[in-house]
Amino acid sequence: MIKVLFVCHGNICRSPMAEAIFRKMVSDAGLSEYIKTDSCGTSAWHSGEAPHKGTREILKKYKIPYDNIYSAALKKEHFDFDYIIAMDEQNLRDIRDFGGKDTNAEISLLSAYCEGKWVVVPDPWYTGEFELSYKLVSEGLLGLLEHITGRLNTNNFEEGRVSYKKD
Ligand code: 4NP
Repeated sequence: MIKVLFVCHGNICRSPMAEAIFRKMVSDAGLSEYIKTDSCGTSAWHSGEAPHKGTREILKKYKIPYDNIYSAALKKEHFDFDYIIAMDEQNLRDIRDFGGKDTNAEISLLSAYCEGKWVVVPDPWYTGEFELSYKLVSEGLLGLLEHITGRLNTNNFEEGRVSYKKD
């Protein structure tokens, strides 16, 4: 089981969007039993809240379920995840400051999986640009899924059991 955690500041706009989209990508690829997905915020300001209205509307528009996704704060237990994926550089610094020294997790920006097309997912809490978040997050997640399925194919599972094609 590979565990993937998406992190933003409030865990109501970008990282729950990433969690919902990635969960659907993983499910569509038939990989739900191999890849676990979660999200959290570097702050606890919105703990217990459902995703922001803008995120909910985008997810509804693209028919992506977001059931059982509620805001929660980053905690020490999250550092046993395999991938901790930040939306922007402040998130990345906050994650590393909080627990980056005592973990084997791969801690990186989502854009690390996106071939240098962009660097951060701008925060729609301030910009209102939820459609842009959706576009960037989806691009990054596709690269992330390709990266992870490469690992699944070569290391962990019998031939032919796990496969994923971009197109
Ligand atoms: P997120 O956006 O980090 O993408 O969830 C934000 C949500 C709330 C706040 C900031 C960013 N806030 O300041 O409450």
